[in-house]
Amino acid sequence: MLRNLTRTLFTTTPPLNLRRMASSNSTSTSASTPISMGSSNTTPASSTSFSTTPTGEKLIFAPADGQYTRGTLSTADLSSSPFTQFHGWFSAAQSASVYQPETLVLSTASLPSGRVSARTVYLKELDPTGFVIYSNFGTSRKSQDLRGNPWASLTFYWREMERQVRVEGVTERLVPEESQRYFDTRIRGSRIGAWASRQSEVIEHRSTLEERVSEVEKRFEGQEKIPVPEFWGGLRVRPVYVEFWQGRESRLHDRFVYERESVDSEVWTVKRLSP
Ligand SMILES: Cc1cc2nc3c(=O)[nH]c(=O)nc-3n(C[C@H](O)[C@H](O)[C@H](O)COP(=O)(O)O)c2cc1C
Repeated sequence: MLRNLTRTLFTTTPPLNLRRMASSNSTSTSASTPISMGSSNTTPASSTSFSTTPTGEKLIFAPADGQYTRGTLSTADLSSSPFTQFHGWFSAAQSASVYQPETLVLSTASLPSGRVSARTVYLKELDPTGFVIYSNFGTSRKSQDLRGNPWASLTFYWREMERQVRVEGVTERLVPEESQRYFDTRIRGSRIGAWASRQSEVIEHRSTLEERVSEVEKRFEGQEKIPVPEFWGGLRVRPVYVEFWQGRESRLHDRFVYERESVDSEVWTVKRLSP
C-alpha cells in the first residue's frame, strides 16, 4: 500500500533521503511499525519518519473544502512596517465582526528535545516592538519551554476574512509595572484566579483549586488593588518574521513575508512566497 502511495507521491525523482525512506519501507515487517530515519535514538533529531498505512477505515478523510474568494493581497496593499500592516488587518477583522480576532495559537519548543507544544491564548497588546500575551510563567508548559528556548511563534486565523498571520520571534517578559497595568483591567475573579492557579500542574480534585481560591480571597479581603503575581504577567514576542496570508481560489493564495536580521534591526525586507 505504502509502496503505491510512495509511487504516487514521487512522480519525479525524490531527494536522496526520501529515496532511502521509500526503499527501507519495502523491508518493513510489521504493518504498524513506524519507520524512523537516522539514528536509533527515540527522539527524532532532524528527519521525519513515515508510518505504514494502518489497516481499516480512516475516521476522517478529505472533509469537504471550499474556495477562498474574499480578497486579494498585492505589494501595493502592504504598509512599510509589519506592525502597521498587522494593525490594519486586525482593525479590518474587528470591523467585519470576526469573533475574537485577538485569538491566536502560541507555539513553543523545548530544548534539547525539540518537542513542540502549542496552545490558544489572547493577544492583549501590540506596540512598536512586539505582540504581547499574558500568562503564568511559573508552572505552565510554555514557561518551561521558554526558559530554555526564547523563540516562539504566533498564528492568527481569521476565517471570515480568509486570512492568516504567522509571527516568529524572540520572547521577553514584561516588567512587573507594565504587567500590573493590564492586570488592573481584569475583573477581580480573574486576578484572584491568577494567584490561585498553578497553571498546568496536576490537581486531584476541583476542590483543591477552589480551596486555593478561598485562601487567596481571604488574603486580599478588603483590598481593592491586588498586586500582579511575580510568576504571572506579559510576554512580548519581538518578531523577525511576520507573514500575511490571503486565501485565493484553487489554493493559489497570496503570501507576503516581512523579515529582518534581528529584533534590533529597523530594516524589513518584504518577499512574496509561493502558496
Ligand atoms: C480561547 C482561549 C483563550 C485562552 N487565552 C489564554 C491566555 O490569554 N493566557 C493563558 O495563559 N491561557 C489562555 N488559554 C488557556 C491556554 O490555552 C492553556 O490551557 C494554558 O495557557 C496552559 O498552557 P501551557 O501549560 O501549555 O502553557 C486560553 C484558552 C482558550 C481556549
